[in-house]
Amino acid sequence: MSKKKELLWQSRFSEPFDREALLFSSSVDVDKELYQEDITGSIAHVTMLSEEAIIPAEEARLIIEGLQEIEEEISTGSLVPHWEDEDIHTVIENRLKEKIGPIAGKIHSGRSRNDQVATDTRLYLKRSIEEIRQALKELKTVLVDKAEAYRRTIIFGYTHLQRAQPISAGHYYLAYFNMFDRDNQRLQDLYKRVDISPLGAAAFAGSTLALNAERSRDLLEFEGLFHNSIDAVSDRDIIIEFVSACSIIMMHLSRFAEDLILWSSYEFNYLEISDAFATGSSIMPQKKNADIAELVRGKTGRVYGDLMAMLTIMKGLPLSYNRDMQEDKPPLFDASKTARSSVRIFTKMLENTSIKENRLSSLVAKDLSLATEIAEYLVQKNMPFRDAHRVTGKIVSHVIESGTTLPDMTLETYRTFSDLFDEDLYDALKPEASVNAKKTHGSTSFASVEEQIISARTRI
Ligand code: ARG
Repeated sequence: MSKKKELLWQSRFSEPFDREALLFSSSVDVDKELYQEDITGSIAHVTMLSEEAIIPAEEARLIIEGLQEIEEEISTGSLVPHWEDEDIHTVIENRLKEKIGPIAGKIHSGRSRNDQVATDTRLYLKRSIEEIRQALKELKTVLVDKAEAYRRTIIFGYTHLQRAQPISAGHYYLAYFNMFDRDNQRLQDLYKRVDISPLGAAAFAGSTLALNAERSRDLLEFEGLFHNSIDAVSDRDIIIEFVSACSIIMMHLSRFAEDLILWSSYEFNYLEISDAFATGSSIMPQKKNADIAELVRGKTGRVYGDLMAMLTIMKGLPLSYNRDMQEDKPPLFDASKTARSSVRIFTKMLENTSIKENRLSSLVAKDLSLATEIAEYLVQKNMPFRDAHRVTGKIVSHVIESGTTLPDMTLETYRTFSDLFDEDLYDALKPEASVNAKKTHGSTSFASVEEQIISARTRI
């Protein structure tokens, strides 16, 4: 049993805080994650205090050395943050008091836990954003490599999960590239709003001490400084924006996961996920399951929950700080870790997938998804598109009824539907011709996909 420790705010009270109430309100198990940020923030604050002659240089030196030792103690596990200390800020301050005595309390001169926790959170967010951006960069690299490798592989493109038109597999991978590129831009844009120091706002109204907030900002390498001390301690918009960006990343991954799960199924059988990223069944020996993709899809729900939690925690909160805001950390940490680990594992899994090119090319070559080619063929021979669509529809229903395929049907039969058909129809019905007949910007033709790959490489 650890010895009873003093809470930072206890002196005004005549009765000790109820133990169950303390256990209920303690955030140590969650916010211990912030110990490095907390120590970095305290060192900057104390450095500023000493430069401004608010505390003596010698005391500042003792405090900073003590804090550096505590960082080491926590990182090596010799100091284990205990819930009785209420939060990580108190863990560190109490330990500092054990080491250097009452001058430890000077780390709180002109600072409250309100601006302290806001500072820690912003430092954590800056690190998280950079880590997720790095993970996205690796994913984008794999996607362009895949696009390059499969740029001339023709697969089915879908709408409504119905085979729609043949496309270059490179085109498909680049669609995801663009989604994750936007995710990266969102985080980059958000970074500007995160990169603002709230330190020096104190509890919310400012301080009577002559703090140099500009100097603390500089020491902590924040780009900007808060404008208003009330807002500085009350703002959690950045967490909401961050968790929202994580939710969108997860939504993108989840859509991709769904494609991979379907495409690797026996029914589709377009794609192989390597054994290193699949699992078996304990009872059905033939099974090979895409569990990693399924888990990413499932974790998307968790991250959406984090976003809903954040929005709901902040809704209707009166200014300025309220203890409710301590509840921001579980969703923040969960969203950050889940998004980061999901992007990373997905990237690795994706690298270890391969398209079944031979199977797909034989399927595409005979498929009804070439029907659009027939309609466009007729349009090129001057038939109005509406008529061409109707004629092609009749051909499709004939093909289905008679059990033939579009390329196998004779010219004679085609001519019973329209006398505009000629031998050259069969060239148009080749999947490669279909893909390369696309002439528009950003389309699926090999030439367009190659241009898109070049552009994507410059955007990794
Ligand atoms: N653990 C608290 C949090 O994370 C720190 C701020 C406490 N401030 C207060 N006035 N009780 O929000």
